[in-house]
Amino acid sequence: MEKNFKRTLVTCALPYANGPVHIGHLAGVYVPADIYVRYLRMRGEDVLFICGSDEHGVPITIKARTQGVTPQDIVDKYHGIIKDSFLKLGINFDIYSRTTSKVHDKNASEFFRKLYDDDKFITKESEQYYDPEAKTFLADRYIIGTCPKCGNPGAYGDQCEKCGSTLSPEELIDPKSKLSGAQPIKKKTKHWYLPLDRYEPWLRDWILEQHKEWRSNVYGQCKSWLDGGLQPRAVSRDLDWGVPVPVEGAEGKVLYVWFDAPIGYISNTQELLPESWEKWWKDKDTRLIHFIGKDNIVFHCIVFPSMLKAEGSYILPDNVPSNEFLNLEGDKISTSRNWAVWLNEYVDDFPGQEDVLRYVLCANAPETKDNDFTWKDFQQRNNSELVAIFGNFVNRAVVLTHKYFGGKVPADLKPEPIDSETLAQIPALKESLEANIGTFHFREALKDAMSIARVGNKYISDTEPWKVAKTDMDRTASILYTSLQICSDLAIAFEPFTPFAAEKLRKMLGIGIEAGTDHRKGEGTPTVNFFKEGESRALHTVPSCGCKSAGEPVVSWTDLGKTDIIKPGHQIGEAELLFSKVEDSVVEAQVAKLQATKEANAAAAKDAEAKEAASHIAEPKPEVTFDDFGKMDIRTATVLAAERVPKTDKLLKLSIDTGIDRRTIVSGIADYYSPEDMVGKQICILANLQPKVIRGIESRGMILMAKQGDGKMRFITPQEVLINGAVIN
Ligand code: 2FM
Ligand code: ZN
Repeated sequence: MEKNFKRTLVTCALPYANGPVHIGHLAGVYVPADIYVRYLRMRGEDVLFICGSDEHGVPITIKARTQGVTPQDIVDKYHGIIKDSFLKLGINFDIYSRTTSKVHDKNASEFFRKLYDDDKFITKESEQYYDPEAKTFLADRYIIGTCPKCGNPGAYGDQCEKCGSTLSPEELIDPKSKLSGAQPIKKKTKHWYLPLDRYEPWLRDWILEQHKEWRSNVYGQCKSWLDGGLQPRAVSRDLDWGVPVPVEGAEGKVLYVWFDAPIGYISNTQELLPESWEKWWKDKDTRLIHFIGKDNIVFHCIVFPSMLKAEGSYILPDNVPSNEFLNLEGDKISTSRNWAVWLNEYVDDFPGQEDVLRYVLCANAPETKDNDFTWKDFQQRNNSELVAIFGNFVNRAVVLTHKYFGGKVPADLKPEPIDSETLAQIPALKESLEANIGTFHFREALKDAMSIARVGNKYISDTEPWKVAKTDMDRTASILYTSLQICSDLAIAFEPFTPFAAEKLRKMLGIGIEAGTDHRKGEGTPTVNFFKEGESRALHTVPSCGCKSAGEPVVSWTDLGKTDIIKPGHQIGEAELLFSKVEDSVVEAQVAKLQATKEANAAAAKDAEAKEAASHIAEPKPEVTFDDFGKMDIRTATVLAAERVPKTDKLLKLSIDTGIDRRTIVSGIADYYSPEDMVGKQICILANLQPKVIRGIESRGMILMAKQGDGKMRFITPQEVLINGAVIN
């Protein structure tokens, strides 16, 4: 049953601070969450929007090690980049903090301690991989070996990035420590576990019975976890980067990153609102919504709720909207392959076009299935939707109002049925938009908003005010009045989706918009008129020209769909283009950038394969006696002449001065050396090999060659030129 809440707490998955954020993250989590928050705020609801960087975990320590810097250096760098790029895209969290903050360290520690004191953990001793040279336990990621599924020699102890299989270190063939290259050994270690099995009956009821409304992908994943039976989960790790386990005898152990990260939501709320954070986390009138990616479902629907339940004083999430994955140009987005559109690069490459990315990622969001982002679609949606429909309509309405009425909302109207019929379409679209956002169907909600622009564009095209103005100014007034009302609708309806354009439009129309309470930490520019906590809404209601305030009229969500949002006589602002075309050359440059990545990846893969093959060492041969070896007559010799053996690819015929005689040797080295390469070279030969006729040529002896794993061969030459016939032993 629908419950009425007093406030909504929205959290977004804390991104790992080991790389920038890409369009997959945005489409899956941050853009929908921001749309939702902006929408609720415009409805005047009390909302808190929490995020921050996830700064612990093994991948961060690995990156630091690879780059020869500290984990702190890594997270400082990426925290800054991520925070800045979110702001530039208009994603204004109330706070964007980090899990290396003091507040979080204390809070995560206390959370663990409370569960520990309340006997909510079990401890288990298990055998874990240990690096005997580096003298440290190895996280799964620190163990590499050959994937048992696909043969990839660089698979990690938890996953093979080549075939995507989830692995355990025990499954790797020939496992090696990433730290020292040593073969890891098994060693006993003790860890704390949250016995998820104890929460299973409760989780079954809470999710499977009480939250049937959750998205089917989320519900389905939870059901399959629960049906599979839950096991205790370790909440500590042997690692030196993280929140130390706050109990005796836990030296060298930290909280598992997936234990501390979700507590980060709480810590960041505490940091923002040290006095009032509890009402957001402990009051049953707060509605908690976690926006996450689909790889985070189990942690947010099963593990974190079990932690909260074990602690006992917290509310639980009311919904956990999660999208599927976004692909890029037909290929899976991958950080390691650099196959991504990075947000920090986008905001640099497309200044002033932040809304376009927001729009395209929402219009094409992978809500029910994986979807594909292509630059062509990006261009097409911008040029034929944002520019040609939304922007074009607004531009015609505003420019013509200036041209014929000096920028004043026209009075002296001469209405016709088409005006009211057109405006009458908007309340239904509003209703649909509300229902869609309310149920986290953002793609559909955006379609509803866009339909308002389509209604406006069709209306102005059908009524042709530029023609009517030649004969009938009163009728022109009515058309533009109606058009300006639709423009105002758009300024309201698009605020959640394209906030920069909505703000520009409000400036053009000379209106402001009211929103919910401001909890922000002074970061980012507000694009709406926030109310300070406790401030009265009545401040904005000073009717004079018929508008709501003495200065800039302020509208709100409730005005959407009304027929008189801005009143006759109100002076609008200057016309500006809301959107600009994305030219072919711009998308071609982006596609070329991706193509270059593809080529670099292919070259790197080839290189790695060759290196790997080359490093393959042939099996040792059986022992021989000294006498066996002594039978070999190995000597230095010089190549006097060389030619290819006709009608063969691989054979060279070499005339050799052996110091004892001159002779011919036929050798299969033409893949590696041309005849010219060989002439004059001093080599080593096995001189007493039984002669053999090869292609009609008698070959007497064999040239000594070194052969590596990839088949590449090189002849052996003495370190300095010796006489021919010098014996090698
Ligand atoms: O998958 C991720 O990127 C994680 N860093 C998400 C953490 S969400 C939360 F629990 F903090
Ligand atoms: Zn594999």
